[in-house]
Amino acid sequence: MQKMIAVLEGDGIGPEIVKEGVKVLNAIENKFGHKFNLEYCPFGASAYFSDGSCFPEKTKSVCDEADAIIKGPVGLAVTEMNKIPQAERPEIAGILPLRERYDTFANYRPVYLDKSYAEISTLKEELVSEGIDIMMIRELVGGIYFGKKVEGESTGMEYSTDECTYKRKDVERIAHVAFREAQGRNKIITNVHKSNVLATSRFWNAIVEEIAKNYSDVQYNSILVDNVAFQLVKNPRQFNGVMLLENMQGDIITDQAGGLLGTLGLMPSACVGPDKGYVEPAHGSAPDIAGKNIANPYSMIGSVAFMLEKFFDLKEEASLIWDALKKVLKDGYRSSDIADKNTPKEKILSTADFGNKIAEYIK
Ligand code: IPM
Ligand code: MN
Repeated sequence: MQKMIAVLEGDGIGPEIVKEGVKVLNAIENKFGHKFNLEYCPFGASAYFSDGSCFPEKTKSVCDEADAIIKGPVGLAVTEMNKIPQAERPEIAGILPLRERYDTFANYRPVYLDKSYAEISTLKEELVSEGIDIMMIRELVGGIYFGKKVEGESTGMEYSTDECTYKRKDVERIAHVAFREAQGRNKIITNVHKSNVLATSRFWNAIVEEIAKNYSDVQYNSILVDNVAFQLVKNPRQFNGVMLLENMQGDIITDQAGGLLGTLGLMPSACVGPDKGYVEPAHGSAPDIAGKNIANPYSMIGSVAFMLEKFFDLKEEASLIWDALKKVLKDGYRSSDIADKNTPKEKILSTADFGNKIAEYIK
């Protein structure tokens, strides 16, 4: 298979973890005889300083041509970020436009902890000793993120607005994605909402429940988002299966899930649109540890596996990467974010050595 991939390294630890993702991609190329042509383009805060925009026009045209996009995390230290006008910052002027451009409505965020390395979790052993296996599916291009905004400055600091709208077709398509995902797993889906307060949540639920009728093989549960926040730390395994979340609630709850795992360094993600999309780690750019070769590249490498699976339908290749990620941790290796006082020094891997190990397992 031959594909063109746009690579947006991003900021902070972005370039060093993307490098490991690419290392693993090269190992897959060699093993299976694929050819992936990579085109590196500027994106994020560093692109603002080098090219005057977080999402420069030349990057847009490469992404338009690409079969898929690999994206690293974005954002620099606060002092650097403060030099960028609010409306030009990477969240508003980079990430959201990227999502909108490719209509990447389906955001897959796996919350996976194997029982062989469950001690990484921040939770008590008895809660996680059997592992966790949840696929959080977050709607990514609707809701309050993309609604009409009124900034406080424009009303003399008298009021401010963020509108939240969901259209029927937006809810339908993400619900179908989630139910289909559930069919391929343990056939349990948990729909998350705030229907005791929000009209958009009542609307969301009504449509999700309509769609549920087409998937009679899937067990449908529904739960308030505040209760999810509570239940997730009390007993995460009850959610094993698929969780369906709207954009804003999904942003918060997926980060909480990273907290259960003990690190966002174990949270890869895929952002899938009707034609194509991009993959990215669900964490930030950690400028404080950038360039030190200690960042955990798991999320980035897992994101590369997602790209192969979701955009190129290379299931065997992807599962080889997932297996290698699991095996490295099973074998007791740790990146420094998940090492603890019991981790032997020689088992603590640098960013580059983590990537080397995965590539070795793939060979
Ligand atoms: C995420 C991030 C983004 C979001 C930010 C950086 C715009 O937190 O992908 O979870 O809020 O969606
Ligand atoms: Mn987030």
